[in-house]
Amino acid sequence: MAADRFLSTLKYVAGTKPTFNLSEIAAYLDEPRTVGQMYEALQPHLHGLGLTANKTGEDYTISRLMPSPAYILSTSEEKRLNAYLSLDTMPSFLEAAIEQYISRKTGKEWSDSIILERLRRAIVAQKDDYWKPTGKRSLQYTKGYSVLGYLAYHFPVYFMQARHLFAQLARDGLLKQQMTILDLGTGPGVMPLAIEDFWMCLDSARSTVLSVERSKEHIEAFEALTRSVAIQDPQVKIESPKEADITLPRDIPLPENVDLMIFSNVLNELAGLPVAERADIVMSYGEKLAPDGMLLIIEPAEEATSTGLRVLALALKKRGLSIYAPCTFIWGTNCTPDRCWSFQTASSIRPTRIMNSLAGCNEQFRYVNSDIKYSYVILRKDGKVRTSCQIPKNTKALRLSKIHMNVGKRITVVAAKMSEDIGDADTHLYRLCDGSAEKPVYAVLPAFHIVPSNRELGSVPYGTVLELRNVLVRYNPVHDAYNLLVSRNTAIRMLGQGDPGQ
Ligand SMILES: C[S@@+](CC[C@H](N)C(=O)[O-])C[C@H]1O[C@@H](n2cnc3c(N)ncnc32)[C@H](O)[C@@H]1O
Repeated sequence: MAADRFLSTLKYVAGTKPTFNLSEIAAYLDEPRTVGQMYEALQPHLHGLGLTANKTGEDYTISRLMPSPAYILSTSEEKRLNAYLSLDTMPSFLEAAIEQYISRKTGKEWSDSIILERLRRAIVAQKDDYWKPTGKRSLQYTKGYSVLGYLAYHFPVYFMQARHLFAQLARDGLLKQQMTILDLGTGPGVMPLAIEDFWMCLDSARSTVLSVERSKEHIEAFEALTRSVAIQDPQVKIESPKEADITLPRDIPLPENVDLMIFSNVLNELAGLPVAERADIVMSYGEKLAPDGMLLIIEPAEEATSTGLRVLALALKKRGLSIYAPCTFIWGTNCTPDRCWSFQTASSIRPTRIMNSLAGCNEQFRYVNSDIKYSYVILRKDGKVRTSCQIPKNTKALRLSKIHMNVGKRITVVAAKMSEDIGDADTHLYRLCDGSAEKPVYAVLPAFHIVPSNRELGSVPYGTVLELRNVLVRYNPVHDAYNLLVSRNTAIRMLGQGDPGQ
């Protein structure tokens, strides 16, 4: 049978009616074919065509796959979520599972002084490697201790920070009743385990998590941890990771219609590749996204990595994805991300037993990792953005791209707050962005100038779009940046929603 002709006929019929019998297709084909032969040809393409097939007697009923409905949080789920986000420790069974894994792999108690010393060395080696120039980093995770060090130092904070990101997706109504999630560069399964944990806050949402990882040591840890925390009839089905190189997406068998793809702390490890190549790789995965699917990319908040994420995000935007959050492109222009260092923060976690034991040495703070600071971007295929902000009719706002022509003047701007307070108790400082600025712009609010009309600057969440009326423009030559001085005479009001509360 000419497969192309068969599939194009089937696609045509599926476009004209939501349900039909497979036998109906035979009438359109040049050569006679049995239902069995047609089903055999169709089966590998079913999902890709967005169809399902159910055997009905000798025939098959072909139907369009109905997209899973959005998962809207109930009031009791909202409350549960607030309580969940206020927790500062990993679930005790997971902490115990990590300890047991380290003990099993090393053949000694994890708290043995020799094991702790080896873990310390692994953590230091990993940090040293991370700070090496691009191309000189190894980050291969081929040695057992590199993964054990990761479990001891990085896992807890990444696991806990994921809660905030999933809460954001849930509160924005971006989760679905049933989801397929793909985690690229899954490591020891931080994201799949965090998904399983988070979904337990939801009454009835379900998901299947697939993942890809190249390090055998990480895969071994993944299997052990997911097995040891497995429960009967979980809401989240975690599949074993596929061992593969994520830079070769075409070699990896992937499902169609993925609802959420996650790259968590992984794309910076491909920093040896030019940004265009990394963007092409991400776009190849994007082909497997459902029409309303999204990509979540997370990176550490450190300056080079965080800025690298913004540069990559813009490259992906130029290739057709929309940036849903945290950025707002108020003037519809593309941004200049080269100096965009912007990250989200949340309350610190309580150090784990392992971290506390590792800290029992001269350089205790070297081994305690409890701050939650991360850069993220959510990209979508369907053009949806969280805040599509219109400049109010009665506002004559200046584009930040024109700020250099207005030094010494009082102006009005519409921009998103893109940092928490990065100043001090006397002078509060917040990064601003309207998507047009060529150099960094900050709002500077001296503590003695705080009045009800400008107070919102400090209290609104990361990503919130604000109108700032009557701010004084100053140039800061030391940082080659612009400051907008907020005074008692400045009026600030919220125009668009930022990250839902932490
Ligand atoms: C820093 S870890 C992040 C693990 C996990 N996603 C998390 O957020 O904790 C980076 C992971 O990406 C994996 N990785 C890096 N480059 C990869 C590649 N080209 N193919 C597959 N996995 C890769 C590493 O082996 C490691 O497990």
